[in-house]
Amino acid sequence: MRVANKLVVVTAAASGMGRAGVELFLREGARVAAIDVNETALASLASDMAAAGHRVETVQADLSRPEEARSSIHAAAEKLGGVDVLWAHAGIPGPGGIENLDVSAYQLAMDLNVTSAALAAGEVIGHMRKRGGGAIVFTASVSGLVGSMWSPIYSAAKFAVVGLTKSLAQTFAPDGVRVNVVCPGLAETPMKLGFTGRSGDPAEAAAAEARMVAAVPMGRLCQPHEAANAVLWLASDDASYVTGVALPVDGGFTAR
Ligand SMILES: NC(=O)c1ccc[n+]([C@@H]2O[C@H](COP(=O)([O-])OP(=O)(O)OC[C@H]3O[C@@H](n4cnc5c(N)ncnc54)[C@H](O)[C@@H]3O)[C@@H](O)[C@H]2O)c1
Repeated sequence: MRVANKLVVVTAAASGMGRAGVELFLREGARVAAIDVNETALASLASDMAAAGHRVETVQADLSRPEEARSSIHAAAEKLGGVDVLWAHAGIPGPGGIENLDVSAYQLAMDLNVTSAALAAGEVIGHMRKRGGGAIVFTASVSGLVGSMWSPIYSAAKFAVVGLTKSLAQTFAPDGVRVNVVCPGLAETPMKLGFTGRSGDPAEAAAAEARMVAAVPMGRLCQPHEAANAVLWLASDDASYVTGVALPVDGGFTAR
């Protein structure tokens, strides 16, 4: 059990990589609170986990709203009795183009990818200090490490998350709180279509996916559990001297 009895909060936890993380943290002995906007998906997560013999606390919140991004962290901390680990995983692909930019779509991408992560970290630090330390893991993307010609706003937002990580790793080191970020490549989750399917044409989406996979040396997409495994390691005491790291989980995409 690599995170036995740790109190873990995961955002955007009801689907994809976040859900895989909830399952993995539970299997590895943690107590987990799952935050998500989708109440139905949260209920289904809780009942699936119960069927596997685990209890997961749930908190419904729209993390694009600053007040909910703040209050959901305290609600999760209250349900768990504290916080040792935060995986702030929420994000959204945002608009594809830059010409005639849709400012509200741009703002939503910034709110969910960057602002919600900053607010979660700012709210959780007090809880971690009370426990004598902790670990924060953010989710960026390969697009937070190299530019993306298809998702420029997303890339700008995820570069900001990497900057937040490297800054807070220094700020929070005296508190015994490590701060790292995972940077997955295109992953096999519902969000994949947000990157490949913007045109709404399934043939174009398939072609976009093939083009993206062709750029991955390992020649395949990231599976949700592969991102979750990296997060578990960063959050665990096995990574006790690791902070400020942006860890690609990308099949070698950014190694080129
Ligand atoms: N899927 C990919 O290809 C990929 C690659 C790299 C990084 N990422 C990043 O991973 C994270 C999530 O991706 P995923 O693939 O696990 O997604 P997913 O589509 O499987 O799940 C996203 C979850 O976020 C929740 N959500 C959406 N809007 C929300 C809001 N306003 N408030 C709270 N919850 C909200 C949804 O209900 C859903 O449960 C994002 O930060 C994304 O940028 C995704």
